[in-house]
Amino acid sequence: MDTFDGKPDRRRVMAGGLAVLASGGISGGLGMARAQPATMREIDARAGTASLLEDGGPLADIWGYDGGVPGPLMRVRQGERLRVRLKNSLPQPSTIHWHGIRIDNAYDGVAGLTQEAVPPGATFDYDFVVPDAGTFWYHPHNRSWEQLARGLYGTLIVEEPEPPQADQDLVLAFDDWRLDSAGKLHEESFGSLMDWSHAGRLGNVLTVNGKPFETIAVKAGERLRLRVLNTANARVLTFRFRDHAPVLIARDGQPVKPGELAGDLVLSPGERADLMLDMTLAPGAVAAIEEVSGQDGLEIARFAYHASDVARAHALAAPMALAANPLSHALDLGSALSQDLLMEGGAMGRMASARLDGEVMGMRALVERGKAWAFNGVAGMETTPLLSVALGRTVRMPLINDTRWPHAIHVHGHHFRVLERNGVPVQEEAWKDTVLVAPQERVVIAFVADNPGKWMLHCHMLEHQAAGMATWFEVA
Ligand code: C2O
Ligand code: CU
Repeated sequence: MDTFDGKPDRRRVMAGGLAVLASGGISGGLGMARAQPATMREIDARAGTASLLEDGGPLADIWGYDGGVPGPLMRVRQGERLRVRLKNSLPQPSTIHWHGIRIDNAYDGVAGLTQEAVPPGATFDYDFVVPDAGTFWYHPHNRSWEQLARGLYGTLIVEEPEPPQADQDLVLAFDDWRLDSAGKLHEESFGSLMDWSHAGRLGNVLTVNGKPFETIAVKAGERLRLRVLNTANARVLTFRFRDHAPVLIARDGQPVKPGELAGDLVLSPGERADLMLDMTLAPGAVAAIEEVSGQDGLEIARFAYHASDVARAHALAAPMALAANPLSHALDLGSALSQDLLMEGGAMGRMASARLDGEVMGMRALVERGKAWAFNGVAGMETTPLLSVALGRTVRMPLINDTRWPHAIHVHGHHFRVLERNGVPVQEEAWKDTVLVAPQERVVIAFVADNPGKWMLHCHMLEHQAAGMATWFEVA
């Protein structure tokens, strides 16, 4: 019997390794054509294979954009228009959601709310302008719990007009996979109510950029920009950078005041962090990036210094702040619309009943219908929104976690400030799209509802979303 609740494991064999992306010409064959920003790019969601195990073991059957995992790296400049034709060659309907992009609502990709899911064999054209520079990602928003677990996701980089100086600009997209002993995707546990009512689908193999390990070739004296993403369905990942002092410059695509990471980097599903890292070791040195949420750290990537080369003799000045993105930073808390989001349910919780499709039912009846969680007493999406707010008004939302599990709450179409945690004001001025709320924690967020349309609000632990932690609000 496979168990999946431990930490991800990885067979320690590693040959050669590859730099993630070369410096400068980062997009290679993968990037969006920079010269023709409005050219339609087709992306084919289809079956493929991936080598997820280090021993070169059996290929796993996955679903991926253009058949690969991660899907093609998309790279556009801030303010450019992005046109992507999704071709659905999957056996089930799908969409693309552009996570963290403050997008035109019609292209937000939420099946059943902003568009119909694209049936197998059909296409859908996404066409929007990217307002914010930063690190974003894209993934389906139909049966997300299955489609992401099978490998459908990719990174979207929106370049600053004047990017900070970096010798390499690298993506590290982390994921955990649940594989059986033959190295195949564990399909029988898709839809497992055990997962849905507990932590979600936790994997047993951790990958970075769709591979079991990444060796990043560096030179002493170089400065790296790392774009770190957690694309896992449910696992909160914690990274430790051995022998280096990363400087955090952005979270969820939005600039923060640059500051050295105080400790480990914790990313819940959906979250991103941009880091600047100076390669301060000597030629020939090796230093690990570990994932340390398990008992022992798991080395998932490493920096390997060229034995001889030194990039520059003198140290670089401390990284400067990125320019702010054009989002509404002026919260008007005095006249804000205040709306609690109460999270209930799950294993070992005390939720006795919730409303589902207009009918209040007990926990057992809910579970029979695949539901185990609720927001404000409602399991899943209803036809009326959680709130309707006038365009331009500030929304203040206490996120109250009355469950035994952490939840990564994600708001579509907007970025929010985290104002307080358990009554303590949060000093760091970060504009987030996803925030982790610990069991019994109360986190107050606020945002300006400046983007018209119907926007989802859900837990990014995708099994929790499917099992009830999903709602929506309307900006009119
Ligand atoms: Cu990344 Cu509604 O999701
Ligand atoms: Cu959750």
